[in-house]
Amino acid sequence: MTLPVGIHDISFATTHYALDHAVLADRLGVDVDKFYLGIGQTHMSVAAADEDIVTIAAAAAKPILDRHGLDGVRTVLLATETGVDQSKAAGLYLHPLIGLPNAARVVELKQACYGGTAGLQFAAGLIARDPSQRVLVIAADIAKYELDTPGEPTQGAAAVAMLVSADPAILRLDDHSGLYSADIMDFWRPNYRTAAVVDGKTSVNAYQKATQEAWSDYRRGGGRDLTEFAAFCYHQPFTKMAYKAHRHLLESQGHNPESADIEAAIGHTAHYNRTVGNSYTASLYLGLAALLDHADDLTGLPLACISYGSGSVAEFFSGTVQPGYRTHLRTAANKAAIGSRAALGYERYRQLHEAVSPIDGKYHPVEAETARPFRLAAISGHKRIYESR
Ligand code: COA
Repeated sequence: MTLPVGIHDISFATTHYALDHAVLADRLGVDVDKFYLGIGQTHMSVAAADEDIVTIAAAAAKPILDRHGLDGVRTVLLATETGVDQSKAAGLYLHPLIGLPNAARVVELKQACYGGTAGLQFAAGLIARDPSQRVLVIAADIAKYELDTPGEPTQGAAAVAMLVSADPAILRLDDHSGLYSADIMDFWRPNYRTAAVVDGKTSVNAYQKATQEAWSDYRRGGGRDLTEFAAFCYHQPFTKMAYKAHRHLLESQGHNPESADIEAAIGHTAHYNRTVGNSYTASLYLGLAALLDHADDLTGLPLACISYGSGSVAEFFSGTVQPGYRTHLRTAANKAAIGSRAALGYERYRQLHEAVSPIDGKYHPVEAETARPFRLAAISGHKRIYESR
């Protein structure tokens, strides 16, 4: 029998600010229902000047270390596509902030929004080799698109941290996994840009095709039937995308779903993403956390997870919800992370969006703004200096 490996704990954090899409719609002269209903987003998380993926990653991971300690943690995998350095792994900045072990490998992973799933699967492989080990996987991103473009309302930010272990308390991963990768330019960010370039319509089509192909590969490998799953957690660049992809997948397999069927399969996964916005690598796992926090008892039921990263790589994988999982959830903390965000006015939103990092190597203190536990205090000598609040 294969060793049970999977998600033992899951925790998420988001930024200090939230921008209401009603504010954005008003400024852009757009009917707000295009955002609320058309793309399925009500708000988006926005980073304060003293927040970045390191500060939100630390905030997501700390509760996991507080609960479980560091025993057996010899690998930390941080997936992001909004890294703060081209060489140094962002996870290394977490050492002094949350006390990561020195006897560990700490690596940053990148493949657009798919990177967190790469981390999860690499972690499962390491644990299969040595079940005494546990791996901290963190997916953290701040989604940024140009102002006044179609992508603007699909920004957002969050980090999800997961402790992956043998004999997991929350989700046991199935052995079968379906893969699909292809070279496509649907979304990318050259090194000289802070905002992504996206061909929105191409990305919607590429996402749907990749989902179908990854599903086919999953089935060829002996995966479960579509009708077996209690719910489907999709990557959600905007929540409507999950609904589109699921309908596409069902129809491609000869089903003719009613809207209520789609809602039953997807609905709970969208609670957090709808108000947090796109969090790239973290998005799928925010969907998983929302499902676990909101659905009726899922004990023993199989879940499908569909990961998509533009460019592109997709993976269809699955797992079984473990007995007693509810006692391990962080539902109150998750809701508080979202509910405690400060409302962001439009002028400050634009200032934050247009701010550029200093590049002269001098000492640049960053004014305190976030109420979250960790902040970027200064940039000095081209070094980022973080502090706990
Ligand atoms: N009320 C309700 N719905 C409305 C509406 C209104 N007043 N006005 C428009 N809509 C609907 C449209 O019908 C459309 O729905 P549909 O897709 O089901 O047909 C939806 O709102 C979006 O409208 P559209 O005109 O297509 O929006 P857009 O051209 O501004 O682009 C995205 C939308 C999602 C393509 C764009 O925001 C984007 O590119 N985002 C980035 C996506 C991304 O990150 N991809 C990479 C990762 S997968």
